[in-house]
Amino acid sequence: MQVRESIDENADDFFAALSDWLTIPSISGDPACSAEVRRSAEWLVAQLRATGFPIAEVWETAEGQGLPAVYAEWPADDPAAPIALVYGHHDVQPVEPLEEWDSQPFEPVQRDGLLFGRGASDDKGQVFFHLLGVRANLAASGRQAPPVTIKILVEGEEESGSTHFADLLRSQRERLNCDVVVVTDTSMWAADVPSMCVGMRGIIDAQIDLRGPTRDLHSGSFGGAVPNPLHVMADLLAGLHDTDGRVTIPAFYQKVLPISDVERELIARLPFDEKAWLAEAGNSGATVGEAGYGTLERIWARPTAEVNGMWGGYTGPGGKTIIPAQAHAKLSFRLVARQEPAEIIDGLRQYVREHVPAGLEARVTSEGNGVRPCFSAPESPAVQAGRRAMERAFGREVLFTREGGSGPEADLAEILDAPLVFIAVGLDADRVHAPNERVDMDLLLKGAEAAAYLWDEFAAAAGSLTSGR
Ligand code: BES
Ligand code: MN
Ligand code: MN
Repeated sequence: MQVRESIDENADDFFAALSDWLTIPSISGDPACSAEVRRSAEWLVAQLRATGFPIAEVWETAEGQGLPAVYAEWPADDPAAPIALVYGHHDVQPVEPLEEWDSQPFEPVQRDGLLFGRGASDDKGQVFFHLLGVRANLAASGRQAPPVTIKILVEGEEESGSTHFADLLRSQRERLNCDVVVVTDTSMWAADVPSMCVGMRGIIDAQIDLRGPTRDLHSGSFGGAVPNPLHVMADLLAGLHDTDGRVTIPAFYQKVLPISDVERELIARLPFDEKAWLAEAGNSGATVGEAGYGTLERIWARPTAEVNGMWGGYTGPGGKTIIPAQAHAKLSFRLVARQEPAEIIDGLRQYVREHVPAGLEARVTSEGNGVRPCFSAPESPAVQAGRRAMERAFGREVLFTREGGSGPEADLAEILDAPLVFIAVGLDADRVHAPNERVDMDLLLKGAEAAAYLWDEFAAAAGSLTSGR
């Protein structure tokens, strides 16, 4: 049987099972959902066992204080065969605002070749196509074991910052030993322009709290004569960028590398249509950003500072004439090249210290440790093998992209000392993290096909993948 035949034969069962998984609200950011994240992990373990993985386990994190990951392993017959580790996540983002969903987020529905539901694309659908893929690989080879050893690690805390993931990687380093990491949590350029990601940005969150008077003050009796925390916050946030759109935090760009000519060429090869892109960007009216860079360069290869929320004072109906006692803002920074999350926070602290006037107390905090940016070399044997698998599945040339988004991939690459290969079929149109998240069902099957070929391509490239052992 051919790979594609096997996939088509099992497609209905695949979507039925995936839909079942999508009913589990595994929202890692919501403490009320932690039992559901655990249920999601157990659900996946059962599916991996049913698929034939001889090893499939729930892995606790932080001694049961964190949310569980799933680990599975299917050894090749040949103990010298390359070892590939697939990474994805089974937790999902919150679903608010609920009223903007056309169907319930955890009651998946199929319409026009799309499957709607939270996690359909990010990342349950993409993780799940590997189960279909490995079956197709075996159906095509007629063997009982895959041609490379396949390990699968599916995290349960990705959407809340991968808090315990690096510790998990370090403590399970022996069992996770591998020659290549297959990341299945990114997107392609377009349904008819298949592509592979070769880098993701890092991220670090921050909160700024400003405190002025010990209580709200009458704005007539005191306004104009004491510092107003909201005014100062507005100044601080407005001052984060200069008129060229560059971030003004001390040393912010110190470890940023210039975009290479090769990278510029790869980006320029992509058919970028600004109007279509703006439509996908929630009908944003115009592009903005750092001077001297194009839109894709800004998203993929340049760092940013974003204000995610700000609050303080009175926001209820009518007016209230006060000087507010406090002002607050949440920020996040996307990082590239060698930028380190902790150093960015140090820079922000210095920036705030230097700009907050006397009479106000400022605090800068960060909840997570952040994640660092990651890269893989397009010309490396591992990426080239992945590219051949994608090209066989799509029957077209596969281009290279990067992602503006983030994840724990730099830790995977460094702690496991293995190159990253991004095999994924998400689209910008999938509305990940937003209402009406969906996935293109045909593309998930293509993903399964690419995954099935991938194991043969890795086996064929065994020498170059295992030479570092
Ligand atoms: N799968 C995404 C990363 C991504 C985003 C890939 C956009 C392709 C396009 C991942 O699940 C994600 O959302 N990461 C978060 C990390 C954060 C919560 C620490 C992100 O990028 O905001
Ligand atoms: Mn994801
Ligand atoms: Mn996500």
